[in-house]
Amino acid sequence: MQLISSTSPSATMTEDFLPLNGTDHLEFRVGNAKQAAFFYRAAFGMELIAYRGPETGCRDRASWVVRQGKICFVFTSALGGDHEIADHVLRHGDGVRDVAFLVDDAEAAWLAATARGAHSVQAPQTFRDEEGEVRTASIAVYGDVTHSFIERQRYTGAFLPGFRACPLPDPLARNAGLRYIDHIVGNVGWGDMNHWVDFYRDVMGFHLYQHFDDKQITTEYSSLMSKVMANGNGRVKVLVNEPARGRRKSQIEEYLDYYAGPGVQHLAMATDDIIQTVNTLRDHGVEFIGTPAAYYEGLRSRVGPIEESFDELARLGILADRDDEGYLLQIFTRPVTDRPTLFFEIIQRKGSRGFGKGNIKALFEAIEREQAARGNL
Ligand code: FE2
Repeated sequence: MQLISSTSPSATMTEDFLPLNGTDHLEFRVGNAKQAAFFYRAAFGMELIAYRGPETGCRDRASWVVRQGKICFVFTSALGGDHEIADHVLRHGDGVRDVAFLVDDAEAAWLAATARGAHSVQAPQTFRDEEGEVRTASIAVYGDVTHSFIERQRYTGAFLPGFRACPLPDPLARNAGLRYIDHIVGNVGWGDMNHWVDFYRDVMGFHLYQHFDDKQITTEYSSLMSKVMANGNGRVKVLVNEPARGRRKSQIEEYLDYYAGPGVQHLAMATDDIIQTVNTLRDHGVEFIGTPAAYYEGLRSRVGPIEESFDELARLGILADRDDEGYLLQIFTRPVTDRPTLFFEIIQRKGSRGFGKGNIKALFEAIEREQAARGNL
C-alpha cells in the first residue's frame, strides 16, 4: 500500500467542482423488498423509517427504507415482471443500483459531472410533498450502478417526497452501533480499473488516496488490484478492484461471473466499538468469514499494543492491522445473497486511515476456501 495523499488536495489544487457532503443512501434492487428490509432490520439492527408503494400511490414498485446512524438503505422491488427493476434483478440478483451522495446543489453537481463526460441517467428534477421539496439528479458509473445527487435542505420528511414515514422506534431493530459508510467498493472487469479511477478523478474530482498492486493482494491462487479514491473533503471513499492473473480464478472474476458484470462488491460500515457491534451482529445471526486460528498466532507481535483484548478479537474473528498512524479493526461478512456477490465489512479506525493491507492475504485465503467450497476456484 502506498499512502498517496493524507490531506484534502483542495489547498493545492483548484476548488472542488463537485462538493459532496457524504453518502446520503444506497438503493438496492431486490426480488422482495419487504423481506430484504426485514433482514437488515433483524440482522443488522436497522430501523424501518419510510415506505412507498401502492398504498402511497406508487403503482409499479415498492420501496422500504431502513437506517442506523447515518447509514440509509432503500430496498426496491418491481410489482410486475415487465419492468426495468425486474430485469435488473433477473440479471444481477439482488444488488446495489444507486450510491447517492448528499449535496447542497444537485443541479450544479449534475452539470459539473456531465460537462466532464458523465452519462446522465436522470436530469435534475424536483419532488415535492407537504414536508417540502428535494432536488435529485443521477449519472451512470460502472455496470448498471448510478450515482445520484440529493439536495434536501428544504425537506423535513422521513426520507424523500412520496414516502410515508414509519412509526419509530422500530420494535424489530436492535441497534448494533453502526454509524456511517466508511467506504464503498466496486468490482470492474479485466483492465478496467484505471478507466474508472480516471473517471472518479476527471469527472467527479476525486483524488488517488492509496493503491494496492497485484503483488500486495495475492495468494497462492489468485490476485487482484485495487485503488482507493477520495473526494475533495475526504468524506467519500470509493475503491475500484479489478481481477489479476493467478494460478486459479480471481475472487473478483467470480463476482463478475455471478453478478453478470461490474457492480458494488462490499460496503464498509464504521463503528466506535467493534467488539460490541460484532457481538450484537453475531447474536442476530449475521454470518462472518471465518478467520483461521493461525492468524491470531503472532498477531500481538505484528500489531503491537492495542486497547482491545486479543482473546476477544480471536473469539469474534476480528482482524487487526497497524500502520504509521495507528491501527484498525475489521471483519467481513459472508455474501448476504445466494449469488457470491455483495458482502459487508465492519470497521473501527483507531488512527489508521488504511484498509487492512496486513490482513489481505489471511482474508483472501479465507475467502478462497469459501470460493473453493462453491466449486469456483
Ligand atoms: Fe473494505
